[in-house]
Amino acid sequence: MEILRDIGALRGALAAAGPVGFVPTMGNLHEGHLSLVRLARREARTVVVSIFVNRLQFLPSEDFDRYPRTFERDRLLLEAAGVEFVFAPDELTLYPEPQTYRVQPPPMAGELEGRFRPGFFEGVSTVVLKLFNCVQPACAVFGKKDYQQLVIVRGMVRQLDLPIAVVAGDTTREADGLAMSSRNRYLSADERREAPRLYRVLKNVKQGLAPEHGVRELARAGWQPDYIEVRRKGDLSLSQPGDTELIVLGAARLGATRLIDNVEF
Ligand code: PAF
Repeated sequence: MEILRDIGALRGALAAAGPVGFVPTMGNLHEGHLSLVRLARREARTVVVSIFVNRLQFLPSEDFDRYPRTFERDRLLLEAAGVEFVFAPDELTLYPEPQTYRVQPPPMAGELEGRFRPGFFEGVSTVVLKLFNCVQPACAVFGKKDYQQLVIVRGMVRQLDLPIAVVAGDTTREADGLAMSSRNRYLSADERREAPRLYRVLKNVKQGLAPEHGVRELARAGWQPDYIEVRRKGDLSLSQPGDTELIVLGAARLGATRLIDNVEF
């Protein structure tokens, strides 16, 4: 496995590599990421994983500085998973000058996550487009755990005519249902025991519980819920009576940790 730190070296290494399957990450890898790597492997001969904690997608009040950076452990996991190339640029490589040209995502990016994290999807779309330009993959794999991100990246690829197939990977869960996330490591032991409630509540909404009741249950259990909403699965527009392809998405803070999850139905 080769570790590449700059764009020229990456392009040189990939020139003869054939079709590339790409998994963009911010590192601190877990089984969820590795399942995306396995999906990429099914789609393409060569797998590239990027590790880059993207400052543009963090609010000043968020955890950019303390976001877990565990490169050595990540490297070993990716090596064992048979990944051919890791692209791990430093900040000055990807942002050598202030990034004043940005991708402006559609108004939907201001809803759900975007309502609580203004600018988040602009930062995500901008870095994903840059990473796509660096890696030039045939396919790119995104997890359904960040469902709104997946929908926004799909829209960007479609509307900007990028020759990339976007592949969605199912959410990987712990045995008690908690969706795997790099941020789970911020949870205290008590919070970790409580954390699967978010998934249980979303499943109850799927079974017919009103989203407002889900919000109330989380609040009663000590969470600070941001939203629980049922949307259309394809484009996350508001659902209408009679719709069949739906998804319930939720986000809530447990102590200092913000968790998101979703359930399709
Ligand atoms: O999902 C993530 O880890 C990030 O948002 C991504 C896609 C790597 C962009 O920084």
